[in-house]
Amino acid sequence: MPDRVSVYEVAARDGLQNERATVPLRSKLRLIDALVRAGLARIEITSFVSPKWIPQLADADEVAQHAKAPAGVTFSALCPNAKGLARARAAGLGEIAVFVSASETHNRKNVNKTIAETLHAFDDTIGPALAAGLRVRGYVSTVWGCPYEGDVDPRRALEIAQKLLDAGCYQVSLGDTIGVGTPTQTARILQLMSREIPAERIAMHMHDTRGTALANVVVGLQMGIRTFDASVGGMGGCPYAPGAAGNLATEDLVYMLHGMGVQTGIDLDQLVEAGKVAESIVGRPLPGKVHQAGVRSLKA
Ligand code: HMG
Ligand code: MG
Repeated sequence: MPDRVSVYEVAARDGLQNERATVPLRSKLRLIDALVRAGLARIEITSFVSPKWIPQLADADEVAQHAKAPAGVTFSALCPNAKGLARARAAGLGEIAVFVSASETHNRKNVNKTIAETLHAFDDTIGPALAAGLRVRGYVSTVWGCPYEGDVDPRRALEIAQKLLDAGCYQVSLGDTIGVGTPTQTARILQLMSREIPAERIAMHMHDTRGTALANVVVGLQMGIRTFDASVGGMGGCPYAPGAAGNLATEDLVYMLHGMGVQTGIDLDQLVEAGKVAESIVGRPLPGKVHQAGVRSLKA
C-alpha cells in the first residue's frame, strides 16, 4: 500500500449536475468552502457546458468567480468546447477537464457527437488551454460498461486514454459511469492500461451504484493507482447515463484509506461536516455509508 494518495473531489460538479433541483449559487459556494476546509486540494467546482444540457450548472461563471481557492488548492471544471474554455479562462480557472466516452451511444447522448468528432474537437480545448497556461485533465467514461451498449472493449478505452495523454492531458480519469465494475474486471482493465500508460497518470472515477466502488479502489491501490475521484455524501450521476447513481462517497474512501494507513491530507471529521452541508443544500438524504453511520474509531 502507498503512504499517500490524492483524492479528486467532484460533488460540486458530478453531484449537483444530477440533482433534480437547481441549488442556489450561495449554497454551492458553501459546499465548496466546506470541502476546502476539509483539506481537499483538488476540487471540480462546476461545468462550463451548455446550460440547455445541464441547467443545474448554468451559473458556472458565478461559481468560478466567487469560489475561493487558497494556496495549494486547485479548482477545475468540465469544459466541452471553445466556448467552455473561454468561460473557464474568463473566470480565472487554472485547470479544466475534457471528457469523452469509450462507447459511441453514451458519447452521442452526452455531447451530441461521435467519439471521433469529440476527440477532434479537443483541438479547440486542450491545445489552446495548455497554450494559455492551464492544466488539462481527461475523462474516459463508460470504461466498465455502457448504459446503452452493455459491455465495452477496454482496448477502445485504452486507445482513447492514450490520445488524451498524447494531446497534453496530465492525467486521465477512467470512469465507471454507471457503477457496474467488479474487482476482477478492474484488474483486467488496469493490467491492460498499465502496459501502455504509467499508473501515476491514471485516476479512477467509480460510481457506487452497486456497492463495488471500494473493492475496485483496493484493486487500483494494489496496481499502483494513486488518484481516486469521489463525491462527498455519495452524490452524483450523469443525467445522460440512465441508472447511474452516486459516485463513491469521499467519506467512505477516506475512512477506508486512513484505516489502511494511507494518508490523504483530508480531515475526516471536517469532511463529514462537508457531507452535512451537501445534504442540507440538496434537501434529501445522501447515500454515503460513513455519512449515514458516522466515523467510529475501534480504539477505546
Ligand atoms: P450541441 O447542442 O450539439 O451544441 O451540444 P451546440 O454547439 O449546437 O450548442 C447548443 C447551445 O448551447 C447553443 O446555444 C450554444 O451556444 C450553447 P444557442 O445558440 O442554441 O442559444 N453552448 C454553450 N453555452 C455555454 N457554454 C458552453 C456551450 N456550448 C454550447 N460550453 C454540447 C454540445 C457539448 C455543448 C452539449 O452536448 C453539452 O453541453 N453536453 C454536456 C453534457 C454533460 O455535461 N454531461 C455530464 C458530464 S459527463 C459525466 O458526468 C461523466 C463523468 O463524471 C465521468 C464518468 O462518470 O464516467 C465526467
Ligand atoms: Mg461521473
